[in-house]
Amino acid sequence: MHWLRERFNAEVITVTVDVGQDDDFRDIEERAYRAGATKHYTIDAKRDFAEGPVAMAIMANALYEDRYPLGTALARPLIAEKVVEVAKKEGCDAVAHGSTSKGNDQVRFNEALMALAPDLMIIEPAKIWGMNRAEEVEYARKYGIPIPNIHGRFSIDDNLWSRSIEGRETDDPGVEVPEDAFKWTVPPEKVSEPLILEVEFREGLPVAVNGERMGMVGIISLLNKVVGAHGFGRVDHIENRVIGFKSREVYEAPAALTLIEVHRDLEKLVYTPLEYRFKKIVDQAWTDLVYGGLWHEPLREELEGLIKAMNKWVSGVVKVKVFGGLTILGRESPYASYSKDLVDYVSGWYPSEEEARGFIKMHVLHSLTAYRVRHRA
Ligand code: ARG
Repeated sequence: MHWLRERFNAEVITVTVDVGQDDDFRDIEERAYRAGATKHYTIDAKRDFAEGPVAMAIMANALYEDRYPLGTALARPLIAEKVVEVAKKEGCDAVAHGSTSKGNDQVRFNEALMALAPDLMIIEPAKIWGMNRAEEVEYARKYGIPIPNIHGRFSIDDNLWSRSIEGRETDDPGVEVPEDAFKWTVPPEKVSEPLILEVEFREGLPVAVNGERMGMVGIISLLNKVVGAHGFGRVDHIENRVIGFKSREVYEAPAALTLIEVHRDLEKLVYTPLEYRFKKIVDQAWTDLVYGGLWHEPLREELEGLIKAMNKWVSGVVKVKVFGGLTILGRESPYASYSKDLVDYVSGWYPSEEEARGFIKMHVLHSLTAYRVRHRA
């Protein structure tokens, strides 16, 4: 803010969007005014976040490169949307944010800003002020700008859906992440008792835990707490960034990993094999778009139409055990396309030898025709 006022002679209005991050919003507001903001907005977007992008991520089993539940990626377009609302209301000429030139978030923020407010100028001070970390700290000291204690060993981006941990100590992919980087989860060896949960879904979304009905924000907050305390919810993987290089990424996401795992299990119970296989492709396409910051690519909404339509049948209850890992104990659904009568080896429907052989013959015909041609020797 100080730099914006100096450099552009700007009047600065600040916006903090609450997507469930562990921040002291009073303190942020106070610091905003102390640094010279003329007005500050704190916008509670937890419900919008949970019932919008997060709900879609559950229905799409969204795990980028099979691991990352997209917390940060899902929140950026929504944050941009809230900022644009304020900018329009206040008649601003420009919007500024703190992205550097190496991350994915610059793409996500700018794409959304360009989609929603093409006339708004985008200023990214950290890309142009030419100061390194030490010089930034010195700048703040010089002008009496208080910096909170978060600028410690790790750079954290957290919200309801995930907590991302970055820092010099996590940059080397061959070195184990120090235990004190984690906050939402305990290591499995610290867990003494298993946790049993029953999660109920309706049309693709969780509606109750252990029989107790709750909203999305409530369910996610609860699961982050109890599942993390039972040693499940960490991700450590190598991620292909939008910007063209690999990075080692570390996350905590107990609720996200649990809900996606049980949702996918329920889908397997309900869908036909064709639906299940096709949806995996759709889910991955959606996930890649969101990770890549193409929130306003028209294909996203078109995919969502199909994802929602298919989730119409994803209702039921899944029982899981969390004990330093997650095990599914059982599942049921009114739409289970599962028949005990069909699977039973002893009673119920039983194909005759002739039927079974006839089926096998035709089932393998294409493959064996080709096989024989290629192994004629
Ligand atoms: N790699 C993750 C992503 O691209 C997490 C990014 C965290 N962002 C941050 N500014 N610390 O979504």
